[in-house]
Amino acid sequence: TGMFTYDPGFTSTASCESGLTYIDGDAGVLLHRGYPIGQLAEQSSFMEVCYLLLNGELPSAKELADFTNTITRHTMVHEQLTAFFRGFRRDAHPMAIMVGVVGALSAFYHDSTDINDPEQRRIASHRLIAKMPTIAAMAYKYSVGQPFVYPRNDLSYTANFLNMTFSVPAEEYKIDPIVVDAMDKIFTLHADHEQNASTSTVRLAGSSGANPFACIAAGIACLWGPAHGGANEAALNMLREIGTVDRIPEYIARAKNKDDPFRLMGFGHRVYKNYDPRATVMQKTAKDVLEKLGVNDPIFDVAKELEQIALNDPYFIEKKLYPNVDFYSGVILSAIGFPTEMFTVLFALARTVGWVAQWNEMISDPAQKIGRPRQLYTGPTQRDYVAVDKR
Ligand code: CMC
Repeated sequence: TGMFTYDPGFTSTASCESGLTYIDGDAGVLLHRGYPIGQLAEQSSFMEVCYLLLNGELPSAKELADFTNTITRHTMVHEQLTAFFRGFRRDAHPMAIMVGVVGALSAFYHDSTDINDPEQRRIASHRLIAKMPTIAAMAYKYSVGQPFVYPRNDLSYTANFLNMTFSVPAEEYKIDPIVVDAMDKIFTLHADHEQNASTSTVRLAGSSGANPFACIAAGIACLWGPAHGGANEAALNMLREIGTVDRIPEYIARAKNKDDPFRLMGFGHRVYKNYDPRATVMQKTAKDVLEKLGVNDPIFDVAKELEQIALNDPYFIEKKLYPNVDFYSGVILSAIGFPTEMFTVLFALARTVGWVAQWNEMISDPAQKIGRPRQLYTGPTQRDYVAVDKR
C-alpha cells in the first residue's frame, strides 16, 4: 500500500500543466496570462478578462467588440428553462437552484456533447458565460417573487445582469455606473484562481468526457461550501453577527480557541501566506462604493477593525492568516442591494469563465487522461464471508 504518495488536500501535488493563472502565495502575486490582477481589476473590464483567459492574449478593439457581441447574442435561455425554476421551493437556496438549472442546460444543447470539436467547445463556453447572469438573475427574481426580466442587448454584460436582477416592469431601473463599475471589478477579481477545489472538480468531471454544462454544475456544487465560495456569504453573516466594534475581541478569542470550531470567515488561504492581492482591490472598492453611494454601513467599520486586530495578533501572524477575496466583497454586494444568499451565486457567475477556460485547456492538452487518484488502503485484509446465521 505504500506505492503512492499520500497528499491529503493535494497541498503539494500538481494535477496538470496550465498557462492560465500564476499564483505566488508567498509574494501575494496573482497573474492571468501574465497580467497582474490589480492592473486587470483597475484598468481592464470583465469581458476583456474573459477573452484573455479563453484566448491567451488581450483582444484588439475589434476582437473585443466581436466577442462582446457573441456573448450578448447568447444571453437568452430557452423559455422552457423557466419551468425549472418554478419546480423549486421559493425559499430554496439560490446555489441549490444554480446547481440544478445549469446542469439542466446539458439537456438543451446536445451539440455540445462533441467535446473533441474545438468549435463546439467554443460555443458551449460562450453559452455558459452568457447565460450565467441570466440564470443567476432568474434565481434571484424567483426567490423574491418578481417576474423574470429578459436580457437586453443594448446593455453591457454587467449592466445587463444588474438590470435583470433589480429592474421591475412597473418602473424604469436607473443603472448606476458606480454600481456597474464595482460589480465588473468583483467579477474580474473572481474570474479564475488556478487549481482551487471547484476548478479541480470541473477538470476531474470533464476528464471523463462529460457534458460541459454538467461539469460546470459540479463546479458550482463544490464552490457552494463555506470553506470555498460560500465564505463570502459566511463572512458577511459573521460581520453582521459581530455587529459592533466592541464585540470583535470575543470573536477573535473564539477563532483562536482550538476547542471552538469557529473560524474567522474571509480569513486565511491555502496558497496566499502574505496577503491576497484580490483583497487589496476589494477593500479599496468597498471604501469607494460606500462613499459614492452614500451608504453608511457599520459592518464596514467592523470589517476594517477586525482586520487590524487580527493582523496584529500573534495567532494570525504566526499562521500567516490574512483577509482573502471574500472578506470585503460582501460589504460591497450588500451595499448594492444583494441578499447574502446571492453572494456565492455571483462568485459562480464570475468563476464560470475560469472553469470553462481550464476545461478547454485540459481537453486540448495532449497529455490529458481521465483523472483517477489512487489511495492508501486502510480497511481489513482479505477475509472469508460468514453466513448471516453464523455472525
Ligand atoms: N480563522 C481561524 N483560524 C484559522 C483560519 C481562520 N479563518 N484559517 C486557518 N486557521 C488556522 C487553522 O485552525 C490551522 O491551525 P492549526 O495549524 O493550529 O491547526 C491553521 O490556521 C491552518 O489552517 P488549515 O485549515 O490547515 O489551512 P488550509 O489551507 O487547509 O485552509 C482555508 C485554508 C481557506 C480553508 C481556511 O483558512 C479557512 O477555513 N478560512 C475560512 C474560510 C474562508 O474564508 N474561505 C475562503 C477562501 S478564499 C476564496 C475561496 O477559495 O473561495
